Amino acid sequence: MRIGARRLDGIPPTIFTRMSALAVRTGAVNLGQGFPDVDGPPEVIARAVAALEQGHNQYAPGPGVPALRQAVARHQQRHYGIELDPDTQVVVTTGCTEGIAAALLGLVDPGDEVVVLEPYYDSYTAMIQFAGGVRRPVTLRSPDFRLDADDLRAAVTPRTRLILLNSPHNPTGTVLGQDELAAVAAVAREHDLVVVTDEVYEHLTYDGHQHVPIATLPGMAERTLTLSSAGKSYSFTGWKVGWATGPAELVGALLAAKQWLTFTSGAPLQPAVAAALDEHPDFPHQLGASLRRRRDQLCAGLAEAGLPPYLPEGTYFALTDVAGLGWHSSLDFCLALPDRAGVVAVPAEVFYDDPDSPGAGRTLVRWAFCKEGPVIEEGLRRLREADLTA
Ligand SMILES: Cc1ncc(COP(=O)(O)O)c(C=O)c1O
Repeated sequence: MRIGARRLDGIPPTIFTRMSALAVRTGAVNLGQGFPDVDGPPEVIARAVAALEQGHNQYAPGPGVPALRQAVARHQQRHYGIELDPDTQVVVTTGCTEGIAAALLGLVDPGDEVVVLEPYYDSYTAMIQFAGGVRRPVTLRSPDFRLDADDLRAAVTPRTRLILLNSPHNPTGTVLGQDELAAVAAVAREHDLVVVTDEVYEHLTYDGHQHVPIATLPGMAERTLTLSSAGKSYSFTGWKVGWATGPAELVGALLAAKQWLTFTSGAPLQPAVAAALDEHPDFPHQLGASLRRRRDQLCAGLAEAGLPPYLPEGTYFALTDVAGLGWHSSLDFCLALPDRAGVVAVPAEVFYDDPDSPGAGRTLVRWAFCKEGPVIEEGLRRLREADLTA
């Protein structure tokens, strides 16, 4: 008897589940999955508790509660000068993850090609496949992980439907600069493509690198669907409250798919996230400052442990290459690491179509620094004391 549908063929369980389960089973320090170990503002949690007690316990409207849609519109205005109609140009999603799913299901037909940055966040590949799309990866190659405009142009064909962007980029930490964004915008305009852009790390950038939404470039507002969420910006990854913004037609296509996925979710959490955006606008910036210190702590410690990192410009991840320690596969390294050192990290090789192509990441390992300083220190101590060679 055939059990799984063909649309699941070749899609492995998400690596994050696998590595976090390994961390729990072995008692290892989890520097793998990207969730913080300190929650967001207590006042925002109090708002969620109040919403629960005050009867926000039934279905929220499908597009999201008006207070949150309005707060998202104000957020985009305040940070980027983007003007949005909260009634037609903002939809609340169940985390950015549902935004990705609904965007791809709502916009991609079977056989359509989707140009996607590689290494990719693994839900992109799963959802492109669910939609019947064909992925066309453009590799951000080591050592500098920049977007090559020629590679981008070469990936576009007459079948291309959309470009799926992610900046600040997980797992490389690249924050796309003006030139790179301009190249994407030029290709999108020239080929009349939609851009779907995952900006969940929009506020987590370092050393003067600024996140610029591609929707702000000339001619892009009308063809860009922007996705984000409260998970990373406010350290509420478990709440799964996200949003999609853009022109009414694109937001409408996403909503048309989203209504059949969850219809709606998080009724008591939505007003709390609205309060977070409106009343704690500086929180993400402060989080970013604290993350920069932890980035430096992690990166200095990794270098000491014989794992020199690529310094990320944004996100809360750093990559190291374990080839120098004699490894031929980051997966082998990460599977051995809990026993060798009592630490869990994420193998980046699973985020490539061909991890052995030039500049790709067969031996790249991703480390998360969204953990408390003492946790990072303990992980580093264990790495320093372990034999990490192959
Ligand atoms: C690039 C990227 N997009 C989306 C998500 C998921 O966002 P959410 O938790 O809001 O669904 C993550 C989480 O790690 C991510 O790294």
